[in-house]
Amino acid sequence: MNEDKDVAACGKVTAVRGMNDMLPTDAVLWAHFERVARMVLRAYGYQQIATPIVEQTQLFTQGIGEVTDIVEKEMYSFEDRLNGEQLTLRPEGTAAVVRACIEHNLLYDGPKRLWYLGPMFRHERPQRGRYRQFHQLGVEALGFAGPDMDAEIILMCQRLLDDLGLIGGVRLEINCLGEAPERAAHRQDLIAYLEQHRHLLDAESTRRLYSNPLRVLDTKNPELQAIVIGAPKLIDYLSESSLRHFEGLQALLKANNVPFKINPRLVRGLDYYNLTVFEWITDKLGAQGTVIGGGRYDPLLARMGGKNAPACGWALGVERILALLTEEKLVPEDEGCDIYLVHHDASHAMVLAERLRQTGLDVILHCSVDGAIASFKSQMKKADASRAAYAVIMGADEIAGGTVELKSLRTPDGNAGKRGWQKTVAIADLVDVILDDITSAHD
Ligand code: HAM
Repeated sequence: MNEDKDVAACGKVTAVRGMNDMLPTDAVLWAHFERVARMVLRAYGYQQIATPIVEQTQLFTQGIGEVTDIVEKEMYSFEDRLNGEQLTLRPEGTAAVVRACIEHNLLYDGPKRLWYLGPMFRHERPQRGRYRQFHQLGVEALGFAGPDMDAEIILMCQRLLDDLGLIGGVRLEINCLGEAPERAAHRQDLIAYLEQHRHLLDAESTRRLYSNPLRVLDTKNPELQAIVIGAPKLIDYLSESSLRHFEGLQALLKANNVPFKINPRLVRGLDYYNLTVFEWITDKLGAQGTVIGGGRYDPLLARMGGKNAPACGWALGVERILALLTEEKLVPEDEGCDIYLVHHDASHAMVLAERLRQTGLDVILHCSVDGAIASFKSQMKKADASRAAYAVIMGADEIAGGTVELKSLRTPDGNAGKRGWQKTVAIADLVDVILDDITSAHD
């Protein structure tokens, strides 16, 4: 009685806004994405790395840059109540991977190709494709200076998008941000230019005028587009070596038939980039159209206290890729498991189920819902609904005779109703009969 009162007083607790559950119905799509992604990552020789979800706040302020949207207003930061440390839920993966590489001296025996997958946290205004907890799959290639590595990581994106069936709906934009002195010269001229138009700037751009004027060029405000178009272009300030790098990348992309567009206004929202930046964009997801973003960040390792080493990488938003797969109707069928075991005697059935699982078959064992044994008819209904390929039926007579009834519920490609045969099989032969049937159905 008291318990009921407590529950009523507390009310229903819901998930935090912008943070989603992955439900069993979504799991098939997630598993499909992960399977394809892992195959692609393997094909390019990348090794997995995982870093903690919580890091020292300083890692991100130092790594991503103080004057970025993420650091200024989107980080979930808090003080550890026990020791006063300033901590942050990671808003992205690159800074943490770089920290781990420095901390464990991972580059001691040469460059590394790494990948990671996990949740990230940004306190953004939630909308379709933009969440406060979302997942990134990312790669970081550390220790490679040439444009061949920029091309490799972009090619990986193409292969992944292609293998997922999504390549037709996305396009690649690239840009070159040059090196710090080139950006400094451009910045000086850009500020002078923007000052001339100061009376026309919006609040956001005025605020960024001196702190991060490059981001003014990235504004979404349509009224500022004329100013943006007339602004000094970074490409005109690039050194010969930056241009050579950029041209090298373009030549490699062309040689590999990767279509791209140069977008001189692409600057990205994180401060660690130099030379190449790129995004894969779709028009099919509304406002949140960037599915993959990345680039080169050669200065970051030294900035984080490590030895100077070049690096580049990208991260994709898993939820955005899954939304695209759903939009394009590329959701795979839930395959169901091999066997649903129907019975009236849990002790015999459980032993058989374990024996079957040991041979590699997947088995759902019927379990009582209300403590009573359900009729065979109602168990068979459950078997059908489970999408299992076979029902194995264990009645009292069968147990006595050492046999079971084996019923085919669907073809191995998931087609229900096409089969429906049933036969008596000796328990000792059950695995062979099922495996033979699966093999012959695939032939
Ligand atoms: P980013 O552009 O901030 O780059 O994020 C990469 C991708 O994560 C975006 O293109 C988008 O698909 C997804 N994403 C970002 N924010 C959200 C959100 N609030 N909700 C859903 N999806 C989101 C980075 O994070 C860099 N660390 C990428 C990188 C790796 N650069 C070099 N290496």
